[in-house]
Amino acid sequence: MGIEVVVEGLTKSFGRQNIWRDVSLTLPAGEVSVMLGPSGTGKTVFLKSLIGLLKPEKGRVLINGVDMVNSPERDIYETRKLFGLMFQDGALFGSLSLFDNIAFPLREHTRKKESEIRRIVMERIEVVGLLGAEGKLPGEISGGMRKRAGLARALVLDPQIILCDEPDSGLDPVRTAYLSQLLIDLNAQIDATMLIVTHNLDIAATVPDNMGMLFRRELVTFGPREVLLTSDEPVVSQFLGGRREGPIGMSEEKDAATLAAEANTATPAAARVIVPQLEPSPGLPPRRAVARRRERVMSMIDTLPPAARSAIRETYARDAGAVTVTAPVAGSGA
Ligand SMILES: Nc1ncnc2c1ncn2[C@@H]1O[C@H](COP(=O)(O)OP(=O)(O)OP(=O)(O)O)[C@@H](O)[C@H]1O
Ligand SMILES: [Mg+2]
Repeated sequence: MGIEVVVEGLTKSFGRQNIWRDVSLTLPAGEVSVMLGPSGTGKTVFLKSLIGLLKPEKGRVLINGVDMVNSPERDIYETRKLFGLMFQDGALFGSLSLFDNIAFPLREHTRKKESEIRRIVMERIEVVGLLGAEGKLPGEISGGMRKRAGLARALVLDPQIILCDEPDSGLDPVRTAYLSQLLIDLNAQIDATMLIVTHNLDIAATVPDNMGMLFRRELVTFGPREVLLTSDEPVVSQFLGGRREGPIGMSEEKDAATLAAEANTATPAAARVIVPQLEPSPGLPPRRAVARRRERVMSMIDTLPPAARSAIRETYARDAGAVTVTAPVAGSGA
């Protein structure tokens, strides 16, 4: 099962430019989380800080007792092997075939025999639906295929933590839907801890167990999907609702006068609906993360606004009815 990632009081600047400060959150083991935020708020910088490629000047990132900020480089290097990374641009080598691109981490970080490498690579190629394309160069395939090749490469070292930086950028809505399903199926199969950076509202609403949002150099929120989807925090509801009215403007922040003018004309916020989360494809095991997340939500439910509370109780009651009919209770195995 995946590993918990604990972020405590993280602050990152480049020279005198502060990117974000005092970011604290826990990525729960085996759950899928999404980080939202306007362009330029430091989401990619955050991912790179988690794996120790960038060094925040304050705070800690704890994984299995190793601090990816302050521990000795040797420990950080070892811990980095637990991660699978899918970069914003795919980051494939243009002169290597898809097969060789996907095999790269295995040849670089392990001493496996070529026959074993071949078995692993072909298995991952099948998972992401690229069988038959393994001999092609990145320049000979579509953007969506390159994304999936990047994901396959992220998977070859059996990662326990998977980071995806805008896996959907440049994909059409249909391919994005397939990718969302792929991420959920992956989580059901390997129970890895996942963090996805995206601007895509459909992904945000239907894929993750938890959502966070960076805005104005702070983590304005991080929590279970049920709580975020029913939030009345203006930044959160504006972003999730994809509306122009709200604190986020084209240049990231609006001035007070614009906000005041909008307050007079604003459309009422959408009703609190907790859109259903994607389920694993038929034949796959149920996601163990779901039950763990619900337990967490129930433990905090008394602290939530009344409307959120009732939306959550309704949703759970409805699902409980459905679950007893369709899915047997998961075994108690490890
Ligand atoms: N190595 C670096 N040196 C100096 N500044 C950097 C470096 N990397 C990122 N930045 C700055 O940090 C800020 C945040 O960048 P980042 O790429 O993390 O944004 P983002 O939220 O991922 O944006 P997008 O959604 O457009 O991908 C930007 O102002 C960027 O210029
Ligand atoms: Mg980015």
